Amino acid sequence: MLFEESYARVIGQGVGIGDKGRIFFSRFYNIFFSKSQQIRDKFAEVDIDTQVVVLQKSMFHMISFYETKTATEYLENIAQSHNRDQYGIKPEFYDIWLESLIETVAQLDPEYEDSLALAWQLAMTPGIQFMKFQY
Ligand code: HEM
Repeated sequence: MLFEESYARVIGQGVGIGDKGRIFFSRFYNIFFSKSQQIRDKFAEVDIDTQVVVLQKSMFHMISFYETKTATEYLENIAQSHNRDQYGIKPEFYDIWLESLIETVAQLDPEYEDSLALAWQLAMTPGIQFMKFQY
């Protein structure tokens, strides 16, 4: 599968965070933050090294949702923390999140090609929709 192979190349295998994962998600946040002041403001008080680790952990739950169409309790909790009553992450920010993720893949996957952008979009979209829906 295109997506799984690309994931292994850029992030590594398993749920633990290794050097690849750290490089990948640090680059992701650089790209994501470059997109808008509003996004930077949301993270003003956040420790990015910690965020790099939690985001990698949450990828496992995003992929699980894609594969099973059932949200883990962890994903339910993230969706709630991001909703209008808590972090207030508007649906349009998720589109920027996904765009930034795919730009990161394009920069770091040596075997990147256009079909991989689609593969990543298809894998992440169910989880993104889940998050947006609970806004
Ligand atoms: C599917 C996409 C996303 C995933 C999987 C995700 C995952 C996470 C996780 C696991 C946490 C830490 C646990 C928690 O606080 O609930 C977190 C925190 C946070 N996320 Fe997201 N997130 C996503 C999208 C976004 C977007 C689009 C924004 C927009 C700016 C955002 C802003 C934040 C903020 C501000 C925090 C709080 C950090 C803190 O105060 O410690 N997230 N996210």
